[in-house]
Amino acid sequence: MATNLPSFPVVDENPLDTCIRFREIAPVVEVEFPGGVPAYLALTHKAVREILAGDNKTFLRDPKHWPALHDGSIPEDWPLRAIIQGGHLSTMDGGDHRRLRGLIMSAFTPARVQAMEGRIQQMVDELLDEVVAAGDGVDLVPAFTEALPMWVICELFGVAPEDRLRLRNWTSTLLAHTTPPEVAFATQNDLWAFLHALVERKRREPGDDLTSGLVQTHDEDDKLTTDELVGVLWIMLVAGHETTVHLLGYAIVALAQNPDQLALAKAEDRWADVVEETVRYRHSVMMTSFRFTAEDVVIAGVPIAKGNAVGVVFQATGIDPSEHGPSANQFDITREPTGHLGFGHGPRYCIGAGLARLESRVALETLYRRFPDLSLAIDPDDIPYSPSFFTIGPLFLPANLGVAQP
Ligand code: HEM
Repeated sequence: MATNLPSFPVVDENPLDTCIRFREIAPVVEVEFPGGVPAYLALTHKAVREILAGDNKTFLRDPKHWPALHDGSIPEDWPLRAIIQGGHLSTMDGGDHRRLRGLIMSAFTPARVQAMEGRIQQMVDELLDEVVAAGDGVDLVPAFTEALPMWVICELFGVAPEDRLRLRNWTSTLLAHTTPPEVAFATQNDLWAFLHALVERKRREPGDDLTSGLVQTHDEDDKLTTDELVGVLWIMLVAGHETTVHLLGYAIVALAQNPDQLALAKAEDRWADVVEETVRYRHSVMMTSFRFTAEDVVIAGVPIAKGNAVGVVFQATGIDPSEHGPSANQFDITREPTGHLGFGHGPRYCIGAGLARLESRVALETLYRRFPDLSLAIDPDDIPYSPSFFTIGPLFLPANLGVAQP
């Protein structure tokens, strides 16, 4: 497949910068993905909101609605197939999507999330004790921004501590667009086998965790097949940590670049605002996996024919000046509630928004209380970012700690 469309991503250009350039052309732009595959990018708040409101109606997630994937146009070894054909909540539509979502949400209630605050605080305290022991120069990514979300989600789903790192590595490999096809498929197989083994282990040795609860639902009634159960674990374990890892990383970078905002957050205990503004200003999700047009549609004035793939660029919507004003690309925790789309909108609104908000608030509040003089030991312009157009965040955040508080 070869097209005359602009390429995405562009070598040596940050994908967000590319998307901002494309947004000058139109709110929805057709581009060429690696492998010569054409698909659309939705780049403005208005366009993305229209698409999300059309979920389960005009926009579907099941890859069977993308003819190019099945008619030989897209090669069998196209690496993005590993994500697109995932067989999980984000690739299901209609009744199946509602049924699975309902099952997860009945286990993942706001009360259950709220009850985790004390335990999350213990985890944060323990990790920051280790940060103190590591001393100046410690890289906050493995030590804190990755470690906390992995620990929280793995404990919630009963994944053993020794498996956390494997799960983290599988996720990063799968989401990187630089991963060769054979590695992407092998990684997906390893992850799938691991989740099947987790289900078997929880069947033999149930615990007080969400996997055990889902296994019980599966075994006691016919609302959930084994593949669906594994698919639920896939999305919850992957989406449930990757996004929060990057949110924490982006918040630390934004606060380092905006000392007035950090001072304000400390003085007025505005950590919930820091979290909200970070989700708007630098979203962890560059683009979610594709949606497919179920009919000819017009989005923000741009026609898209039936059977096309559209990627929703969350990272560009948060800093869209036509929605958030001329200061959209500034980090400002005093901003009035913005109605950002950072946790989605409509039938696929983020199931973990409450957990992400709670976890990130506790993490950031405690980090800056324990280390009031924390500073980055790297120029923000030199921070490397993950090579993925699905989720992007800082990979290396060495820090000088200053005098640690108890
Ligand atoms: C900073 C943290 C997070 C951000 C920014 C975030 C963002 C999002 C967004 C934008 C969507 C909608 C995607 C779309 O419509 O294409 C979404 C969906 C989802 N999120 Fe999150 N998320 C976060 C944390 C979490 C956590 C902690 C969990 C689980 C514990 C989670 C589980 C999910 C699931 C399962 C979906 C799919 C819902 C569906 O398809 O019905 N997320 N998230």
